[in-house]
Amino acid sequence: MQVPYCRQLDNGLVVSSTRPEHARQLEQLQSLVFPTLDDLQRMKAPHYLKHLELFPEGQFVLLDGEKVVGMTTTLRLNFDFDHVTHDFEDVMQGGWMTSHDPQGEWLYGADIGTHPEYRRMGIARALYQARHDTVRRLGLKGQVTVGMLSGYGGRKQEMRAEDYYAEVCAGRIQDPTVSMQMRVGFEPRGLLADYLRDPVCDNYGAVLVLSAERGLA
Ligand SMILES: CC(C)(COP(=O)(O)OP(=O)(O)OC[C@H]1O[C@@H](n2cnc3c(N)ncnc32)[C@H](O)[C@@H]1OP(=O)(O)O)[C@@H](O)C(=O)NCCC(=O)NCCS
Repeated sequence: MQVPYCRQLDNGLVVSSTRPEHARQLEQLQSLVFPTLDDLQRMKAPHYLKHLELFPEGQFVLLDGEKVVGMTTTLRLNFDFDHVTHDFEDVMQGGWMTSHDPQGEWLYGADIGTHPEYRRMGIARALYQARHDTVRRLGLKGQVTVGMLSGYGGRKQEMRAEDYYAEVCAGRIQDPTVSMQMRVGFEPRGLLADYLRDPVCDNYGAVLVLSAERGLA
């Protein structure tokens, strides 16, 4: 039986393994954190309960007392960096996460989110650290994720996604999501079109990797 994850931050908030009683709050947090994402791509309470059956050690919440103010969902996958063609739907299978491979060598971050009133307090960093502690405990190669280029939707009339992505990689544009992920140590590995259905990023995502040995920045 896996020992649940629990770590208190200096500000009193707690990173914890997700428990079944968090599922309803997680469903509500999805709408707050991803307000423009197609609702069919938002996870609901029954999905969260299924994730706990499939891979309990990969599910985390950030708690302020009993209130869920941060969340991340992960699964294990094998990953071929030379042929990255998947989209969010391939990974999440309608939210049920049945693509989870218990022998997969990479921890794939399906999402991460912080309640709007709790941003810039280190919650995402703490959730990435919990993921990384899991990577090391399970002997995986590292974390992979596809970060939404969430500043691109507002600039798509002005520039091509390829150019926006190159500017973010070079640090000349600060993207609210991908620049944050690069700041905590993720390395960009390519641009994916039509990854998910959200106008905030015009459906573009960036493949990002944080290897086990490298650790958070
Ligand atoms: C992106 C998001 C998860 C960041 O959460 P957060 O809890 O505010 O992030 P943190 O406070 O842990 O910040 C981590 C680091 O990134 C930096 N950072 C956070 N937001 C940033 C932003 N908008 N622009 C640039 N840097 C940012 C912080 O300064 C911090 O750096 P430091 O630790 O070196 O000081 C949050 O803004 C969110 O939920 N956004 C909407 C959902 C989303 O885009 N999720 C990702 C989907 S792929």
